Amino acid sequence: MSKKRVLSGIQPTHDSFHLGNYLGALKQWVDLQQSHDAFYCVVDLHALTVETDPKLLAKRTLLSAAQLIAIGVDPKLCTLFIQSHVPAHNQLAWVLECLTGFGEAGRMTQFKDKSQKGGTDRTNVGLFTYPILQAADILLYQANNVPVGEDQRQHIELTRDLGQRFNSKYKEVFTIPEAHIIKSMAKINDLQEPTAKMSKSANSMAGVIELLDTPDVTMKKFKSSVTDAGREVKFDASEKAGISNLLTIHSAFSGKSIGDLETEFAGKGYGDFKVAVADVVIAALDPIRKKTEELMGDQAELLKILNSGADKANEVASKTLADTYAALGLIANG
Ligand code: TYM
Repeated sequence: MSKKRVLSGIQPTHDSFHLGNYLGALKQWVDLQQSHDAFYCVVDLHALTVETDPKLLAKRTLLSAAQLIAIGVDPKLCTLFIQSHVPAHNQLAWVLECLTGFGEAGRMTQFKDKSQKGGTDRTNVGLFTYPILQAADILLYQANNVPVGEDQRQHIELTRDLGQRFNSKYKEVFTIPEAHIIKSMAKINDLQEPTAKMSKSANSMAGVIELLDTPDVTMKKFKSSVTDAGREVKFDASEKAGISNLLTIHSAFSGKSIGDLETEFAGKGYGDFKVAVADVVIAALDPIRKKTEELMGDQAELLKILNSGADKANEVASKTLADTYAALGLIANG
């Protein structure tokens, strides 16, 4: 039987990915490439929805690809590419836009949050159609599963709705994907504001652990993380959001269960526990930072990998696009 397919993407909007990206999604990317036919992309077109300096966008796109390889995304096992290298993404997005209701797009919570923050004058139409481009990313590759964090669930639902709508209105062209969300890792929280999602757009980076932070910075951020007034290292998401978040992070890196960690740290103070969490995180992130630096030292090789990924992605995507156009009655050229 042929392997099932996965697709996922990440935006190159910052120099470094953070721990939420890593535990919520990227770790699953690495696992799934073993068992699935995996397509992973750096979604540079999505990044245009926020104003970016062109030089910085180019640098961050390469830095994103380098970080992905550094964490274990292996271009020999999967197809790693840059979204804008595959023109079918924009082409399918237009088709799907014509199938999406205005109200339906307006109900996307990420759009509502971001547009409310920025105000109507600073909100561009790209932000409104953003989830439809994401649907195109997924449907083009006939993906069965999409590894993401909880914040993307609604976008995957929209993708399913649009795929089903097209299939029943025209022809069965698209595989209907499912979100692949690991419940315990689906929402990693900010260390300073432990009930809020760790996010690239946080007001302060003090509670955001970046993969490319130096060990000193990581240790400092963990040591100053916000916890409750109690003393017990115990998982309780509503009463002890900070400690629970730290337990989740420790468990993800050490492989120890939450129960075992509660026993290990029984009677020890929060200070000791915070340092222990920082230690397991630093042990994992330090080689990632070094490997990223090394890969950025040979950008020609990085581009070679991405170009060959784009060739493979274009092959699959152009076939789906041709089927879509034919189903719609668009006449083929030639
Ligand atoms: P992006 O770039 O914001 O984030 C990349 C991935 O990280 C996950 N994530 C989190 N998971 C757990 N806890 C957190 N605090 C946390 N913060 C971020 C996100 O859920 C995501 O999986 N729209 C997407 C990019 C995209 C995409 C796609 C994803 C474009 N096309 C196609 C999948 C398939 C986004 O903005 O992710």
